[in-house]
Amino acid sequence: MSSPDASGDGSPIRTAWAELNASADALPRIRSFMRRESRITRAQQRAFAELWSRFGIDTSTARLEPEQIFGRCGPLVLEIGFGDGESLAAMAAADPQTDYLGIEVHRPGIGHLLLRADELQLTNLRVLCADAAEVIERQLPEACFNRIQIFFPDPWPKARHHKRRLIQPSFVALLTKKMEPNGRLLIATDCADYAHSILDSLNATPELHNTVNGDGFAPRPSQRLPTRFEQRGQRLGHTVWDLAFARRAE
Ligand SMILES: C[S@@+](CC[C@H](N)C(=O)[O-])C[C@H]1O[C@@H](n2cnc3c(N)ncnc32)[C@H](O)[C@@H]1O
Repeated sequence: MSSPDASGDGSPIRTAWAELNASADALPRIRSFMRRESRITRAQQRAFAELWSRFGIDTSTARLEPEQIFGRCGPLVLEIGFGDGESLAAMAAADPQTDYLGIEVHRPGIGHLLLRADELQLTNLRVLCADAAEVIERQLPEACFNRIQIFFPDPWPKARHHKRRLIQPSFVALLTKKMEPNGRLLIATDCADYAHSILDSLNATPELHNTVNGDGFAPRPSQRLPTRFEQRGQRLGHTVWDLAFARRAE
């Protein structure tokens, strides 16, 4: 329907989906992201022009087949909201047997990741510039992800904005359907009440089980590399809560 627009506000994507959803039985839409101030740099713009055809997947309503996208059938990891993508690129570089799909709406961050993916000559990474909820619901097959990771989703700390939080029971149910049996769902946040609300949503999903005992929060998983948002929180003395759930085998 459209490749990422040059204006940076993502509006063609939303329009396309709004049209599609007008007649569809879709999840309630959560506007989980906000327009951010940061401008796209010339290098990032150039990355879209020169590297999108290598690493990007155009926004459409067509079903995506991971085997066709990557040209092989290996373990598949989905990262939602990768920010500047530094940690996602490093993960993909360190784990060439696994394929990585990243979904983000923030064009400067995507441009940054395209440049890094080129530097690292990655062949196991593809990127979508879209609202993750829409792509996941409409375009991705069931039971295809070995791991889904969401590191530092926008916290929306004010109570009146909690409805904009990405991780809510309906979204967790959607993610669960897309995970392989025994597939992992890794989430991290530095917002205490969001951490507890995520834990409640995960605990309330019968197809998932917590991979740790105790208070429900997990030790930092080895796969999670420091992200930009985390590093900023560290400078402010924030605590991080990790969650590590898995889809039940049957
Ligand atoms: C707080 S930032 C964290 C970024 C990165 N994970 C990090 O830790 O540095 C949250 C990111 O999620 C993205 N995001 C929020 N809602 C999204 C959605 N529905 N689809 C795709 N990306 C989304 C935002 O654009 C933003 O870059």
